[in-house]
Parts: sequence; C-alpha cells; structure tokens
Amino acid sequence: MKSLNQYWQQRDLQHVWHPCTQMKDHEANIPLIPIQRGKGVWLYDFEGKAYLDAISSWWVNLFGHAHPYIQSRIQSQLSELEHVLLAGFTHRPVIELSEQLVRITPKGLEKCFYTDNGSSAVEAAIKMSFHFWKNHHQPQKKKFVCLSNSYHGETLGALSVGNVSLYKETYGPLLFEVITAPSPDAFLAPKDVDIITYTRQQFEKIKILLEKDADCIAAVIIEPLVQCAGNMRMYHPLYLTLLRECTEKLGIHFIADEIAVGFGRTGTLFACEQAGIVPDFLCLSKGLTGGFLPLAVVMTTSTIYQAFYDDYHTQRAFLHSHSYTGNPLACSAALATIELFEKNAVIKNNQAHIQYMKTHTEKWRNYPYVADVRQTGMILAVELMAEPHSQTPFAWQRRVGLQMYREGLQRGILLRPLGDVIYLMPPYVISETELSFLIDQVDQCLQQVALNIQSECA
Ligand SMILES: Cc1ncc(COP(=O)(O)O)c(C=O)c1O
Repeated sequence: MKSLNQYWQQRDLQHVWHPCTQMKDHEANIPLIPIQRGKGVWLYDFEGKAYLDAISSWWVNLFGHAHPYIQSRIQSQLSELEHVLLAGFTHRPVIELSEQLVRITPKGLEKCFYTDNGSSAVEAAIKMSFHFWKNHHQPQKKKFVCLSNSYHGETLGALSVGNVSLYKETYGPLLFEVITAPSPDAFLAPKDVDIITYTRQQFEKIKILLEKDADCIAAVIIEPLVQCAGNMRMYHPLYLTLLRECTEKLGIHFIADEIAVGFGRTGTLFACEQAGIVPDFLCLSKGLTGGFLPLAVVMTTSTIYQAFYDDYHTQRAFLHSHSYTGNPLACSAALATIELFEKNAVIKNNQAHIQYMKTHTEKWRNYPYVADVRQTGMILAVELMAEPHSQTPFAWQRRVGLQMYREGLQRGILLRPLGDVIYLMPPYVISETELSFLIDQVDQCLQQVALNIQSECA
C-alpha cells in the first residue's frame, strides 16, 4: 500500500523533469518531496510533515507562503483582468508598479522594461546595453565584463556572462566570449591583508582590464555584495563604489543584477544603496512578487531610454518582447509586496533577525570542517571544507552538502546547500521561535555530518 507521498512521487517521476537535478537521484537516493500546501515559513507534504523553508524557495519568498494580503491582491486583479499584451496596450497594475519601482529604487532609474524571469531580464539588459552603443554609432562596444564566480542565469546570454563552471562548462561552445575579472570575494582575501586594502587591490585588477578595452566594452555586469549562486561569496561595498566611478569615467555601462539580493536580502532594500551607487541598469526578479508569480524587470535611466527614442523609420527601437511581459496578476503581487515592506517597516524590523542570526551562529566558526561563517544582512552562509585552514574543499564526489540536505529534511528544515555551502535565507516573516528552531536544527546537522565524515575517515 503506497503512502500519499509515494503516490505523488511516483506520478511525478513519470513525466516531470525537474530543474537542476540528476533525475536518477530521485529514484533511489534522494526522495522527491511532494508539497501539498504552505503557510508562513512552513511547507507541508501530503502526509502533514512540515518543513521550514530556510531558503525561501530559491530566494523568492519574502513574506511566507500563502500570504493572505498578496493572495487577496492577486484575487481581486484576477476578477478584473488576467492578462493583456503589453505592446500597444497597458493596464493599471503595470503603470502603478512602474511608478512604485521608480520611487523605491536608487534615484535616476526611471524606466521599467518587464520580462518574466531573472535570466530573461539579464538578456534584455545585455541587449539594451549593446544596442545603446550601436544607436550611438559605437557598434564595436560589444564586449561584456563579468566577475569570476558570478552567476546571472541559465539562458545562453546570461550563462555567457556568468562564471560558475558547474552550469557553464558543458555549454561553452554555444556561448559568447566575455572578459572575466577576478572577484573581490572576501573569503579569498589573504589573512594578513585587511579587507579595504584587499578590495582596492581586486578593484585595480578589473580597472586595468576596463581601461585596456574601454573602446570595445559595452558593460560590466555584477551581483552587488553577494555572489549568491556562486556559493554565497560576499564582498565589501567599496568595490561597487570604485567600480561605478570607474565605469562612469570610461563610458562603460554598469549592470547591477539584484535579482537575488534585491528587496532587502542584504539588509537594505537594494544592495546598491550600501555603496551609494546608481547603476545604468538594475535587474530585479525573485522577491519582486513576494515569491508568488514570475516577473522580472530591467530598470534604466532616461539617458539609455533616449538612445532608443526616435521616429519609427530610424529603426532605433528596442524590439524585444516576451508574451507575458508585465502580466497584471504578477504586477499586482509586486504592488502588494512593496506595500507590505512599508506597512510593516520590514527593513527596520529585519535588523533583529540579522542580529539574532549573527549571535547564534558565531559558535559554528569553531566546529569541525567549518571554513567560514559569513553574513550579509538576511543571508548567512557556512562553508564546509575538508581542511578549513588551507581552504581545501572536500572532493565534490563526497557530496557533503547533500548530507546536510538530508539531515535537514529529517529534522524538518529545507536547506538546499550550494556544493558544500549551507546557507540560511529565510522569509522575513520568520518568528524568533522559528529562527531559533532553524538554527538549532542546522547546529545538529553540522554536528551529525561532522561525525559522519569522521567515521568515513576512520
Ligand atoms: C543573481 C542572479 N541573476 C539571475 C538569476 C536568474 O534568475 P531566474 O532563475 O529567474 O532565471 C539568478 C537566479 O538564481 C540570480 O541569482
């Protein structure tokens, strides 16, 4: 007799091909978890087992699952209009959302171009940057600069400007070439160099590359403050400030990809605020709709917009589109999300969570195999390594992160480690009791996995 969970697992495996997954793992090794419903930070399977969603379902969920206010805003929009194409037509939610986005993002970003996922926003920003220079009679400005260990999505353009080999290498022959600068990753800073000096040193390296090829470079693309998919590596905001000054001086666009870090993840509403910068392009998605519906936006300046604005016959327009661009339901979810930030003083109130996470995870630094515990705002990461002192990673075949994942599931928490990096990125509605539960469970997982490793080595 099959359990309810098994029933859904088996039906799923007949036809569903899951993202970022070796499907064979699900047949034996790693049972698929069918989720029936969610409430707040909790997800429930078909047999009622609860999992605390410690990673906000791939970083999208800000205010918990099934949030009643976001639900109600989507429902009332649903009774009026589900969708209309955004070419030649418009609607209230997209107009209001654009006004709100311009109001809350760094000053100077005045135009909103919508897509429906993060990767497609990155594609649009790259195309816009190239096209801007073309419209300005500089078609040779077509190179893009990215950082080592960066991640900007999975479509071919986004993958080209990313640098995580796990996702990129296989498709190398399909991708365009980019200039890759060493990242300012604080974890890689030599122990005897202070963070400011190190940040300046890393900046000098990209500056040399930018100066050398400024005539051919369209834009630099960067994830402000945290390289999330690149194992939650973090760096100092000074790097962004210096880089922005430099790109402005050299006539190179600055694309800030805040798809993962936007909407409060780094402690401020947008990470760029911590560096006091305004990019030429700001890409947002994930938290934009509170995790309810797919939506993304490229925000840009009037200067960029004007390069495309002309009589039709000049053929300068940005002829890029997606069928679901600016979907009214998704825009309503985004409007509700922005309202919740303000109504509940979320950025201010998150400070207590940030401090709690910091205080209660400090001891992990002394645990076996912990090479680093780092935090930027609401993102806390723990890096496990075979030899923390020499920063020697575990052989990837050992899948230490997977052991943490399994231990977490047994204890009712959903972690999805990046390699051997465990991180907490919970919805902001998490209570102190829930946060305490989460940290206790991760603590137990860390201890259990360390024991497993020690017994494997014995
Ligand atoms: C910084 C960054 N950019 C782009 C993307 C791609 O977004 P999506 O998965 O919606 O295509 C991601 C996804 O994790 C991301 O972290």
